[in-house]
Amino acid sequence: MSIQVKSINKFYGDTQVLHNVDFTCQQGETLVLLGPSGAGKSSLLRVLNLLETANSGELSIVNEAFDFSKPICEKAGLKLRRKVGMVFQQYNLWPHLTVMENLIEAPMKVLGQDKATATQEAMTILTTLQLADKANAWPLQLSGGQQQRVAIARALMMKPEVLLFDEPTAALDPEITNQVVSIIKQLSETGITQVVVTHEVDFAKKIASHVLYLEKGHMVEHGTKEAFTHPATPQFADYLNH
Ligand SMILES: Nc1ncnc2c1ncn2[C@@H]1O[C@H](COP(=O)(O)OP(=O)(O)OP(=O)(O)O)[C@@H](O)[C@H]1O
Ligand SMILES: [Mg+2]
Repeated sequence: MSIQVKSINKFYGDTQVLHNVDFTCQQGETLVLLGPSGAGKSSLLRVLNLLETANSGELSIVNEAFDFSKPICEKAGLKLRRKVGMVFQQYNLWPHLTVMENLIEAPMKVLGQDKATATQEAMTILTTLQLADKANAWPLQLSGGQQQRVAIARALMMKPEVLLFDEPTAALDPEITNQVVSIIKQLSETGITQVVVTHEVDFAKKIASHVLYLEKGHMVEHGTKEAFTHPATPQFADYLNH
């Protein structure tokens, strides 16, 4: 089991944004999180790599278990994020570092890789993502789609067992979105577990093995990709029709 979430509750101040969220995700699955704005998708995603802690409930991910009713030390989050990568909508690349420098920074600092090894691995990943010719470019010289692929490449440098994406295609045109679709599909064939937050139903349908639909912090529907054609709940059916 790659991810197990049990009765997660999360509050910001007095506002509860996740209510008893419960699901499991097997290794190699691509789970899509869908739901209206404010449903709690990003909050849930950020709990999965301890960028946020929940107020109660349990999380088990990449063979580490956390009980949110007890304090969780910051070190646990840092350790977990070596194995659980995240790709953001805004790419978050370092503007003062070249593409190559962006890629080798964490493996050298966090994993202690030597520069030659990290550089060689970075070239392999850049080549796979058709970015080899951009190794020495600055992030701001790249298109949005190229920057997003660099952000994915950077996450892959850490050889994550789980990869989380928050709206990875929100700023991209349809052609580039299709490139991201191909990347996610190729990664799923390598056995990596992926959780992808998106607003875009067409994109979701192309990549999902499973889907979790949230409304106002409540899990409304959780099933395989069949749910796109045969939704079990009227709420998810409604969402798909909009
Ligand atoms: N840091 C924060 N402090 C206080 N409230 C927050 C914080 N982050 C999110 N929220 C609130 O939590 C709720 C869920 O937000 P979240 O970002 O998880 O939703 P979402 O489903 O990702 O929405 P969107 O599709 O717009 O990105 C919202 O009501 C939001 O206003
Ligand atoms: Mg969000």
